[in-house]
Amino acid sequence: MSRPYHLLVVEDVASEREILSEHLTVAGYHVSTARDGQEALEKFQNERIDLVISDLRLPDISGVEIMRAVKDIDPRVPVIIVTAYGSIEGAVEAMRRDAYSYVTKPLDVDQLKMDIARALQNRILAEEVQQLREQLRTRYRFEGIVGTSKQMQEVLSQVARVAPTRATVLITGETGTGKELVARAIHFNSPRAEKPFVAVACGAIPQTLMESELFGHERGAFTGADRLRVGRFEQSDGGTILLDEIHTLPLAAQAKLLRVLQERTFERVGSSQPMTVDIRVLAATNQNLEEAVAHGEFRRDLFYRLNVIQIRLPSLWERKEDGSYLIEHFIRKFADQNKKGVTGVTEEAMRLLVRYAWPGNVRELENAIEHSVVLARGDAVTPDDLPLHIRQSTIAADQFQVGMTLAELERVAILETLKLHGGNKTKTAAALAIGLRTLHSKLKEYGQSNTDEHPVVPPAAGGTA
Ligand SMILES: Nc1ncnc2c1ncn2[C@@H]1O[C@H](COP(=O)(O)OP(=O)(O)OP(=O)(O)O)[C@@H](O)[C@H]1O
Ligand SMILES: [Mg+2]
Repeated sequence: MSRPYHLLVVEDVASEREILSEHLTVAGYHVSTARDGQEALEKFQNERIDLVISDLRLPDISGVEIMRAVKDIDPRVPVIIVTAYGSIEGAVEAMRRDAYSYVTKPLDVDQLKMDIARALQNRILAEEVQQLREQLRTRYRFEGIVGTSKQMQEVLSQVARVAPTRATVLITGETGTGKELVARAIHFNSPRAEKPFVAVACGAIPQTLMESELFGHERGAFTGADRLRVGRFEQSDGGTILLDEIHTLPLAAQAKLLRVLQERTFERVGSSQPMTVDIRVLAATNQNLEEAVAHGEFRRDLFYRLNVIQIRLPSLWERKEDGSYLIEHFIRKFADQNKKGVTGVTEEAMRLLVRYAWPGNVRELENAIEHSVVLARGDAVTPDDLPLHIRQSTIAADQFQVGMTLAELERVAILETLKLHGGNKTKTAAALAIGLRTLHSKLKEYGQSNTDEHPVVPPAAGGTA
């Protein structure tokens, strides 16, 4: 530390104040003095004091009160209380209120100097520990991404490693787990940050227009192409393109994309003029691409090309410990946005939030918190403020009745848990702490074995005949 430690000596007797001040100055400290509580607190607030030595008895307030005020302002500052010999009771109170230590008069200056050195040393250690802890907790911190769980820290460490490179990254995970957020983090932490980030929602583009959307078209390339159109790849030259919902990409566009990845060139639709671009490609999907490959819906060679680095986002269910941080984060966000004084959730509301399965993951949680903050009347979100389906997703108490057989209880527990998890048997089995096979056999017993083995898929609107 470059500057000398700054001590504040509070003592009403002038001679004692001066002697002590002198000793400590000689010992290398920078010393300020005060003759009563008021002056002490003024100096404490205006000077950067590292440690306070205060007499217990002062003309206005007591040393203990000074300590309390100091700790209120900065709890890290050690306070040493000096008591007259015999006034042990006051000293005991000081100890109880966690003064760093107390010494008795007449002062043993050498002992006091050792106490000071030790208190300052402890303070430095405590600060170092806290800094290390902070560093660990926020080791991989990206703007707006909450995630202290082991799984999310692993994700963020991957993001940190791939961001500076040009590698193609495949980002997978259930809906609402933060795939786009991660894609943006990669771009904005890369050397391309100043260049465009273009996100293409492939699933939202009609398949017939996909190639022209991505690669552009020449005037007259097809009916309706009455002027030249620059595609998304050209728009993102120098930057990053995110191909979201990549599984919806038609096979023809897949072939063109493969070539972009291999040779960095493509042609606009209706042109034979190759264009060269400098682009980093990120792809995202909530589907299992390997399965799509197995079904012939996705090119194997493209899959391998995209899958060089895969970042898999865990579902909220897999990282429950992030839940409370996310809730806190969203409460702050929506309280600010809506100018509401909401700062937390009640215990009961928290219980409901923790029990819910969150099939829509972080997005669903975000929406639920926004809804709740907007409706909240007090400073905490109550169960009444939560969206209805979350409130109702827990097992109703009246389904359990004294006198039910164990088998009946089990049936209610299984079926309600299944409902809570939207029919997802893996999650249901995990929640009930039973094996998947046990769950299957129970459901069969209840005549519910095929609830999702053969899901009923409604015919797609406008599907090809
Ligand atoms: N770890 C996180 N910390 C803070 N906010 C998050 C986190 N993960 C997701 N979100 C927020 O949740 C919402 C959904 O995230 P995002 O759009 O990235 O999900 P997605 O995986 O792309 O979903 P989909 O598959 O449905 O497109 C966004 O508003 C995002 O800001
Ligand atoms: Mg998305």
